[in-house]
Amino acid sequence: TPRVFSGIQPSGGLTLGNYLGAMKRFVTMQDAGTHETIYCMVDLHAITARLVPADELIHNTRELCAGFIAVGIDPEKSVLINQSQVPEHAQLAWIFNCVARMGWMGRMTQWKDKAGKNAEAASLGLFAYPALMAADILVYHATHVPVGEDQKQHLELTRDIAAKFNHDYGVDFFPITEPVIEGAATRVMNLQDGTKKMSKSDPSDKTRINLTDSADEIAKKIRKAKTDPDPLPEALEGLETRPEARNLVNIYAALADIDPQAVLDQHAGGLFGQFKMALADLAVDKLAPISTEMTRLMADPAEIDRILGRGAERAREITVPILDRTYDIVGMLRS
Ligand code: TYM
Repeated sequence: TPRVFSGIQPSGGLTLGNYLGAMKRFVTMQDAGTHETIYCMVDLHAITARLVPADELIHNTRELCAGFIAVGIDPEKSVLINQSQVPEHAQLAWIFNCVARMGWMGRMTQWKDKAGKNAEAASLGLFAYPALMAADILVYHATHVPVGEDQKQHLELTRDIAAKFNHDYGVDFFPITEPVIEGAATRVMNLQDGTKKMSKSDPSDKTRINLTDSADEIAKKIRKAKTDPDPLPEALEGLETRPEARNLVNIYAALADIDPQAVLDQHAGGLFGQFKMALADLAVDKLAPISTEMTRLMADPAEIDRILGRGAERAREITVPILDRTYDIVGMLRS
């Protein structure tokens, strides 16, 4: 059976972008029953941008785990893990640090964006981040990786690392992974500026919907989202030069599990004032139960820790043998 792996950083807060671009599809792939699914909170990645206080990172990791379960990940059906509890991720990442080239890493647009003009002051971990991401995936020999559009370049690098390893050692060992970037919401945009992606790191909270927002906050942010005075068009081409309008239609489509064209079929000719009311109702309907469930799960952190402990055991049944074979290929002596 094909094996699915994906990860999310426990960097505090989940957005509608994380949900529609990634988590909602994690659930679909889990429930399809046609794939083995492994989902990960990547705490090792979460310290690359800055070192966070230990209790904060632990809280964020537990909250992310609660988020996974609240959206519908079943820790019996999927393997649900925290990255640092499965040490083979970091061990394989070292090997990949020696496979990946400086030039490849330097071309990563996320590196360039996050390091900004002052790359000298960025951590070495931030630079090496995509090699760890490749290890996350390949330490399971995962074949499919559902992500949002912003991770596409990192997945191409993952393929390059697998291919170079296989070529340099003359083996056919690591699979060439398929990115799964599908649906209406692979790039959910900022509610106040349709040319920027929705992000948990934007200083203004009005630009995003958080999965922990109350029903009132969700409705208010959607009502205040930027739009234009024109009505909804009949065809998708009518949204091409209207990024904010297009974003709201895509969000509606993804939340309702219908095509963007079907949204237009229902709402063409209507004004955005009205459409935003319908969207707010739909969003509250779909998202409010998630936040309630997260709060409930967070009341029992010991249970969350138990779930992740069990997940790590199951994960290591896969990762230990794959790392072992990798070490054999590379020539790491073990006595
Ligand atoms: P992260 O934590 O930034 O985001 C988690 C997932 O959410 C998606 N996403 C979005 N999708 C659509 N619209 C948006 N506005 C939006 N914002 C975020 C991301 O594309 C991602 O799928 N490097 C990864 C974590 C990672 C990983 C992995 C992913 C580490 N190892 C191995 C896959 C496989 C990251 O920082 O995602």
